[in-house]
Amino acid sequence: MSREGVPLSTSSSVQDRPGEHELVVVANRLPVDSRTLPDGATEWVTSPGGLVTAMESVMRTIDSGAWVGWAGAPGEAPEPFDADGMSLYPVRLDQEDIERYYEGYSNATLWPLYHDVIVAPEFHRGWWDSYLTANRRFAAAAAPVAAPGGTIWVHDYQLQLVPRMIRDRRSDVRIGFFNHIPFPPVELFSQLPKRNSILRGLLGADLVGFQRESDSLNFLAAVRKLLGHHVDGMTISVPGIGAAPMREVQVQTFPISIDSSAVSALTEDPEIRERAAQLRRDLGDPEKIVLGADRLDYTKGIRHRLKAWGELLDDGSIDPHDTVIIQIATPSRERVESYRQLRDEVELTVGRINGEHAPLGRPAVSYQHHSFDRREMTALFMAADVVLVTALRDGMNLVAKEYVASRPDLHGVLVLSEFAGAADELRAAVLVNPHDIDELKAAILRSLAMPPEEQEEAMRSLRHQVMEHDVQFWAHQFLENLTASGSPEQEAAPVIRLTGDAPSDPVELDATLRDFTAVPRLLIASDFDGVLAPIVSDRDAVQPDHAALTALRRLSDLPGVAVALVSGRALADLDSHTEMPSSVVLVGSHGAEVGALPPWMQAEVLDKSALSMTPEAEEQLAAITTTLRRIARAHPGTEVETKPTAAVLHTRNAKGRGGINATESALEYATTLPEVTVTPGKEVVEFAVVHTSKGAAIDALSRASAADAWLYLGDDITDESVFAQLGSDDVGVKVGSGDTAAQLRIPDTEAARDLLRRLLELRAEQS
Ligand code: G6P
Repeated sequence: MSREGVPLSTSSSVQDRPGEHELVVVANRLPVDSRTLPDGATEWVTSPGGLVTAMESVMRTIDSGAWVGWAGAPGEAPEPFDADGMSLYPVRLDQEDIERYYEGYSNATLWPLYHDVIVAPEFHRGWWDSYLTANRRFAAAAAPVAAPGGTIWVHDYQLQLVPRMIRDRRSDVRIGFFNHIPFPPVELFSQLPKRNSILRGLLGADLVGFQRESDSLNFLAAVRKLLGHHVDGMTISVPGIGAAPMREVQVQTFPISIDSSAVSALTEDPEIRERAAQLRRDLGDPEKIVLGADRLDYTKGIRHRLKAWGELLDDGSIDPHDTVIIQIATPSRERVESYRQLRDEVELTVGRINGEHAPLGRPAVSYQHHSFDRREMTALFMAADVVLVTALRDGMNLVAKEYVASRPDLHGVLVLSEFAGAADELRAAVLVNPHDIDELKAAILRSLAMPPEEQEEAMRSLRHQVMEHDVQFWAHQFLENLTASGSPEQEAAPVIRLTGDAPSDPVELDATLRDFTAVPRLLIASDFDGVLAPIVSDRDAVQPDHAALTALRRLSDLPGVAVALVSGRALADLDSHTEMPSSVVLVGSHGAEVGALPPWMQAEVLDKSALSMTPEAEEQLAAITTTLRRIARAHPGTEVETKPTAAVLHTRNAKGRGGINATESALEYATTLPEVTVTPGKEVVEFAVVHTSKGAAIDALSRASAADAWLYLGDDITDESVFAQLGSDDVGVKVGSGDTAAQLRIPDTEAARDLLRRLLELRAEQS
């Protein structure tokens, strides 16, 4: 079944085959970025940001870990490769994906919206389409990589649709999601077009984790208010779509951290110590060094910090001969307009401050617009007497924790914004509201003047927190809770008995048919299109193989033999193309419509089976049809088809974005109908009130005919539901190529005709 054009999926899904990795991390970026050197060679460098800082060290400790993500450059993805004991699976992002999915929807819509709308989020409908497509690509890359029953851990705001998409492909894995950035209050989140699709995407996970308690509570409030799901404490009950049962999703707070002991150990390295001393000398041996280290991002409060610093220099509270500030601003998202503006403003401000205050030959603000490696950062932290973290909103802020881990000497002061997630844990820092410039200035002065004993006392408490709660502890907590939550269907992916296209050995085939026809009571059934008639593009012009139909007709006259034709076509359609006698049972609409039965069959088996319409089902179908028609009226060009047991919304002829919007509305409606089988296809969504399949039809027919064994011929994916339930005496015959659960393969409709004739011959011999 095709899923193109449909954002979310439902219970009926095509499952990927499992891979080999017990833990698969999916994030927008791989831990390394590829860079092309002037000579054309590829260089790999550590990717920016807190997510990679944290997860990289966790993955190094995991056996059989995989990381799925973008390699940081446009165009074809490099082949999967191994690095640092983990397997990396690069995902392709083209220039247009980068502009719309990454720079657009992720970083100009979601990022500002989730960070308290510090800058105005931009909403563009085309960006959403790219976000959807890119998320689908990450899900498709990640799903086949996990081992059976393994764990897939999806990270951050760029991939919020991925948990649901993976669930659809791999019902056997546990899925976790962790949001590294804040989750906004529902009043802000509600601005987001497609907000419900985002929530539903996240709810594909078994466990959704956030940095702060307030983020978790914001998410729960959004789910309750916008989706109307039942929330009990931190547990959400998610109604199943279609035949899927109700699921529980856990929400929990896990403040992320760093590899604290590794950072702390670096401070023992003689080279790094010497580098720290050297840095101080290079800056002209100032009395105090103050450090700010951030990605150049408007959430980090760099402008507020520089404003406070500039004023302190202006009013003479700080002497630039004694005190220097280093501001590291790692380049980030440089093509996004708000980041360009920020860079201009920051650099203008730095230039002004230096112009007015820098002593000859030395900066007042040492501004560094590039990134530094881990060792250099440690040296900087060791040299810094005060570190300023003045974020206006930040999921966690790992710079704060890295500074603390770099100070086993218990010297130094951390000034920390109360709007950074780290403020919940690092209570001994000098906490500030960065919007209050006077308060910020006072905090800076207090920190510069803090006596060593006071510094030690605060740093001891901060270190206790950071060293005890490192990133390994965080990952362990998350994965332990993920294991305890959810209930992945342990049901293995369908058995594949044959692959490729080689027909079965004729001798084996004949022997199997001979054994089969020796069984007393038989059911012989076949699919129609592709088995009894070659596939044609115009379905009405189908030309059945008359010899094959004749063989079936004759078989149905033999004692102890029941014969059925099973098709996705509507019953009336199948009837008019085959003109079978009443001794042959016709089953249409993939099992949902069953024609008249021969008198000797036990009709009550079928009446009691899932194949029949009850008065309640009739009523439900009428209600669904009314609602779908209302949706169709609101989206010109879409239409509703009614079938005996289903209603179908067709969006192929919709105008503009009407098709996507109508599908969205239909899927939203589907969440209120737990007993209905909702199947999205290509520009179509089918709501069936009778949950059935060709497999269920064969099961019911074989019981109604009291058959001891059955034989089924099929060519299509929908026939696999029959082959999946083969018993030891049953025979499944796949017509044509492709993976199948059938145990025999024949090449085409001609071979199907020969097989049916041979069956007739063998059974006639028996009678
Ligand atoms: C933050 C985000 C990450 C992101 C990183 C770097 O830490 O939470 O998801 O990867 O910033 O940003 P970039 O856009 O360069 O990946």
